[in-house]
Formats: sequence, structure tokens, C-alpha cells
Amino acid sequence: MAAISIFVGSMYGNAEGLAEKSVDFLNKSGHQAQVIEPATLEALKQADNVLFISSTTGSGDIPDNLLPLFLQMQSEFPMLTGKNVAVIALGDSSYGETFCGAGKQIDAFIEELNASKVLPRLDIDACEYFEPWEAAEQWLQQLASKL
Ligand SMILES: Cc1cc2nc3c(=O)[nH]c(=O)nc-3n(C[C@H](O)[C@H](O)[C@H](O)COP(=O)(O)O)c2cc1C
Repeated sequence: MAAISIFVGSMYGNAEGLAEKSVDFLNKSGHQAQVIEPATLEALKQADNVLFISSTTGSGDIPDNLLPLFLQMQSEFPMLTGKNVAVIALGDSSYGETFCGAGKQIDAFIEELNASKVLPRLDIDACEYFEPWEAAEQWLQQLASKL
């Protein structure tokens, strides 16, 4: 059993909905997952197992509700050594080069902070999946078995 802290970036609720389903799924798998709201640096520092689930807004940008934490991470550079971290990125490939830009930024930055990446990032394309859960279930199954 692992305590899993989920940090969500969402503008219109897709990533939020996926996060809620992920909590149910991970808890049924025997873990103790919860969405951390608001997403603060203190909560991130306290977490051992972290899942970021973020959509992309603007032009490859991080949603407003996750942006303060990301900016704080950039300014304080809190090392994440020893923490298990994984990222789910939601986006839309019709945006071209900025596809899943927010998740990619987060994923690259946690590497700089020396986090242990549990799984390669999952990118979910809204053009391909109307319901993000369809794309996420198998990946979460792997996450559940690795933590
Ligand atoms: C104003 C706006 C800008 C967006 N910009 C991007 C983008 O740059 N790259 C991308 O991959 N998706 C982009 N998207 C698509 C969203 O990330 C995608 O629809 C996602 O599922 C929304 O999830 P949310 O409701 O949790 O915010 C954009 C959507 C909107 C409405």
C-alpha cells in the first residue's frame, strides 16, 4: 500500500474528472490516493508518491490552478530525490507543437529535480479519446503495481 498524492491541473474539468476516477481506481487497488487541493509546495514536499495529472491550456501552458505550484517549484528548486513521481498529460494533437505542453514541462522539470520516475509519461489526446479514462486505465494499472 502506498499513499499517493495527486496534483491536478485542469481548466474545464477533464483532468479533474480523470483524477477523481484515478483516486477510486488506485484506492480499489489497495493504495491510499487523494487529490491535493490546493496544490501547494508544502504538500509536494511531504508526499512520497506523486501523480501529476494536467491538461494543457493557452499555447502549451499549465492550467491556472497548477501554475502557482509550478512557478514555486521553479523558483525554489525543491529536490525530489527519493520520491516516486509520474505524470499524465492531457492535450489535443490539433494544437500541433504544443501538444500536451503542460505535462511535458512538468515531466521535464521533475527530472531536473531528480525525482524517481515510476513510468514514462502518459499523453492523452482528446482527438483520439473522448473519455480520457479509456486511455488511462491500463497505465494506472501499471502504476498501481509498481508502487
Ligand atoms: C483555450 C484552450 C487552449 C488549449 N491549448 C492546448 C495546447 O496548447 N496543447 C494541447 O495539447 N492541448 C490544448 N488544449 C486542449 C486541452 O488540453 C484538452 O481539451 C484537455 O482535455 C482539457 O482538459 P481540462 O478540461 O482538464 O482543462 C487547449 C484547450 C483550450 C480550451
